[in-house]
Amino acid sequence: MGSKLFKSLLMVLVAFFMVSTHAIGGEVEVLHWWTSGGEAKSVAVLKDLLEKQGHTWKDFAVAGGGGDAAMTVLKSRAVAGNPPTAAQVKGPQIQLWGDEGVLANLDDVARAEKWDALLPKVVADVMKYEGSYVAVPVNVHRINWMWANPEVFRKAGAELPTTWEQFEVAAQKIQKAGFIPVAWGGQPWQEATVFEIIVAAMGGSDFYRKALVEADPEALKSPTMVKALVTMKMIKAYTDKGAPGRDWNLATAMVIKGEAAMQFMGDWAKGEFTAAGKKPGRDYIAMPAPGTSGQFLFNVDSFIMFKQKDAGAQKAQKAMAGLILQPEFQTVFNVNKGSIPVRLGMPRASFDDPALRSMNAFSASAASGDLVPSMAHEMAVFPAVRGAIMDVVTNYYNSDISAQAAASKLASEVEAAK
Ligand code: GAL
Repeated sequence: MGSKLFKSLLMVLVAFFMVSTHAIGGEVEVLHWWTSGGEAKSVAVLKDLLEKQGHTWKDFAVAGGGGDAAMTVLKSRAVAGNPPTAAQVKGPQIQLWGDEGVLANLDDVARAEKWDALLPKVVADVMKYEGSYVAVPVNVHRINWMWANPEVFRKAGAELPTTWEQFEVAAQKIQKAGFIPVAWGGQPWQEATVFEIIVAAMGGSDFYRKALVEADPEALKSPTMVKALVTMKMIKAYTDKGAPGRDWNLATAMVIKGEAAMQFMGDWAKGEFTAAGKKPGRDYIAMPAPGTSGQFLFNVDSFIMFKQKDAGAQKAQKAMAGLILQPEFQTVFNVNKGSIPVRLGMPRASFDDPALRSMNAFSASAASGDLVPSMAHEMAVFPAVRGAIMDVVTNYYNSDISAQAAASKLASEVEAAK
C-alpha cells in the first residue's frame, strides 16, 4: 500500500473515530459549590463515573459554602439565556425554576431507574414539578451536629455538653485553658445554621416548624424565639476575633488542628475530617448539638437539569441523572461527603459510626415527628423568606440590638417578604 493511500485511510479512520466518540459522549456543564477539600473529593466521584461513560464534565464551581454565591451566578446565566446543563439547586426553589419553564423532564430516566420506589416520598415530591421529575437528589445531610476535639476537652478538663447550660460551663473551662471554645464562621448562612439548631433545641420540633417552616409571625416574635436569640448571642463570647467572614471549612480546620474545641455545623464538616485522615471517636467526636439529640434537621442536595437543544448534551445529562441514584455512587460519594444515601435500602457496610447514627436518627425522627427541614439550607421556605430571616439574624448577632427587638423584626420582615 502506498504511503499516501495509507495516510488518507488513517485520516478517514481518525475522523470516523472522532465523530463516533462525539456520538456516544456529550458534555455536561455542572454548576455547584463543592470546593472545600471534602466536597471536591466527593464531586470528583460523579465526574469520574460520568467520564467513564464517555461524557465530558465541564466544571463550573462557584466557591462559597451554603451556595448563595452560586445561586446568584446561576440566575444571571439563566437571565442571559445561557444556563449550564445541570446545577446544584435544592428544596422549594426547584418549583421556582419549574415556573420559568426551563427545566428538562427526567421522567424517562426516573421510570427506567424506578426512582419512585427508591426515594422517600417526601424527597421525591420536592424533585417533581407538576408531577414530573425535574431534579435528582444526591444525599441527606443532617444539620444539627457538634464536632469536637476530644484532646482539647481533655486538656481543659471539660465535659462534652448535651445542653446549652452545660455548653456554657464547658466553654468557660476551655477558654481558661487557652483554647478557642467555638470555631465560628461569621457568614450569614453559617450564623443561620447555628440559629436554627438553637431554635430546634429551645422550642422543640413543633415550634421549629411553626417558626421556620410556616414562618408564623406569632412564633417568630414569641418568648421562645427571644430565648433562642439570647442563647445564640451567648456563644459569641466564646468565639475568636477571626470569626467574621471565616469560611466554614477553615472553622472545621481549627477543630481538626486543636486550636478550637467545637464547631456547630452540618455533616459536610465530617467530609473535612475524613479528607484529613481523621477517624471519628478517636480524633474527633461527632454528637448531636446540645438539646437536639432526637431531632434531625435535614438538608437534601439535588441537581436540576436545564433543557438542551444538543442531542449529546441531552444524553449526557440523562446519564448524569441516572448515575446519581446508583448504589456505587450513593456509597462512594456519601462516604466522602459526610452525608447519608438518599436512596432507600442501601447496604451500610461502608459507612462510619456518625453516618450509621445519622441513618438511625433519620428513621427514628421521621417516626417521632422530629424530622424537620433546614431553613438555612433552603429546605423549608422560599428564598425571599429565608433571606429576610438570615438578614435579621445576622444583623442581630453582629450588633447590639436586643433579642426582643430582633424577634419583633423577624416577624415583621418575614411578613413583608411573604
Ligand atoms: C450546603 C450543602 C452541602 C454543603 C454545604 C457547605 O448548603 O447542602 O452539601 O456543601 O452547603 O458548602
